[in-house]
Amino acid sequence: MRLVRKKGGEETDLRRTKKMTITLPLELGPLDHYTLIVEDAAAVARFHTEVLGFEPLRIQLVNAGTAPPGGHDMLNHVLQIPGTSKRVLVVTEGLTETSIFRRYLQKHGPGVHHVAYEVADLDGAVEALRKAGIGTTSERVLNDPLTGLRQIFINREFAGYFIELIERNPKATAGHFTNDNMAALARTMISYLKQGGEAAPTETLAPQVEIKASPGEVRAFLLDPFHLPRWTVHRCIRRVEGQVVEVRLAGDLPLTVTEDRSRGAIVYRWAQGDRSLEIPFFVAEEAPDRTSVRVDLPPLPPARLARTAKVIQAELDLLACHLEGRTETFSPTLRALLDEYHLEVHQRIGL
Ligand SMILES: [Fe+2]
Repeated sequence: MRLVRKKGGEETDLRRTKKMTITLPLELGPLDHYTLIVEDAAAVARFHTEVLGFEPLRIQLVNAGTAPPGGHDMLNHVLQIPGTSKRVLVVTEGLTETSIFRRYLQKHGPGVHHVAYEVADLDGAVEALRKAGIGTTSERVLNDPLTGLRQIFINREFAGYFIELIERNPKATAGHFTNDNMAALARTMISYLKQGGEAAPTETLAPQVEIKASPGEVRAFLLDPFHLPRWTVHRCIRRVEGQVVEVRLAGDLPLTVTEDRSRGAIVYRWAQGDRSLEIPFFVAEEAPDRTSVRVDLPPLPPARLARTAKVIQAELDLLACHLEGRTETFSPTLRALLDEYHLEVHQRIGL
C-alpha cells in the first residue's frame, strides 16, 4: 500500500484518494452470464444441453418472496456456455402465479431478460452512465453483503433488454450467484410490471443506509423487537404469553426476529394464520465503525411497494439517527410520514 503523509501528519492510502474518471464507451470485461425467463426452464435447459452442447452445472431454487417460508418461487437452471470457463446461461422460471417472474413472462413474453458483463470499477461505470443520462433500475449499486458481489441493471428501453454490470471479487468468482443475487433480479423487474410500460429508475426500491456504528452494535439493536417503536412504524410491541406480538386494532400479530448468518441478515417475520410477511435487513461491515443496512422488499402491489419503500427508507434514516445519537436531526417531514403510516399499519386488517 502506498502511503502519503499529509500536512497534518495523517497518512492516507493513495489508491483511495485518487479517483479514476471513467468515460463512455465503458470498457466492459467478458460476458459474465445471460438470463432467460421462460415458461418451462427444464425444457429450455434440455434444448441447450442436447442440441447446443451447453453443460448443466446446477439447479438453484430461490424464494424471492411469494412462496411460504421454506418454499421456492424461482427455479434456475445454470448451464455453462460452450467454449467458456464458467460463463453461464441462467434459465429462470417462476414457480408461483404471483411470482414476479411469472408476471413478467405474462407481460413481456419469454426470452432474454438480461445480459451481464463484468466491469472492474462499477462505481466509475455508474458515474459515467449517470453523466450520460442513462438510467438504471436502482439508484444504488446492489451489494451482496456476504460475498461483496456488486451489480446494477441498465434500464431496458435502451436496448430492449436489461444490461447488468457486475463487479466480481475473489469471493464471488464467475459462475457464482448467491440466492440474494438471484432475488435482486426480481427487484429489477418490479417497476417494469407497472401499467404503461417502461419505468423510471426508482431510488427507493432497495432502501439502504450507512450508519456510523459497528456491525455488532447494529445487529444487537435490530435483534431486539422492543426497539421497533423507537425507529419504525411498528409501535405497539408487547410480549403476550411468552410470544412477541405487534398489537393491532384487528388483533395481535406474532412477530419473530432472527439472525440468518448465512445471508448476513436480521429477519423480521410477521405471521397471520398460515400467511406471513418477511422483511430481511442485510447488515454489512463497510469499515470497523461503519455499517450498511439494506432491505429487500417482498413483491407487493406497485402502489403499496412504492409507499412501503419510502417508509422503510425513512425508518432506516431514523435508525441511523438513533444509533448515532442524533435523533434531533431527523427530518420533521419524514417523522410525519412515519406517524401517518403507523396509524395505517395499526388499522390494517391483513399483513
Ligand atoms: Fe444476472
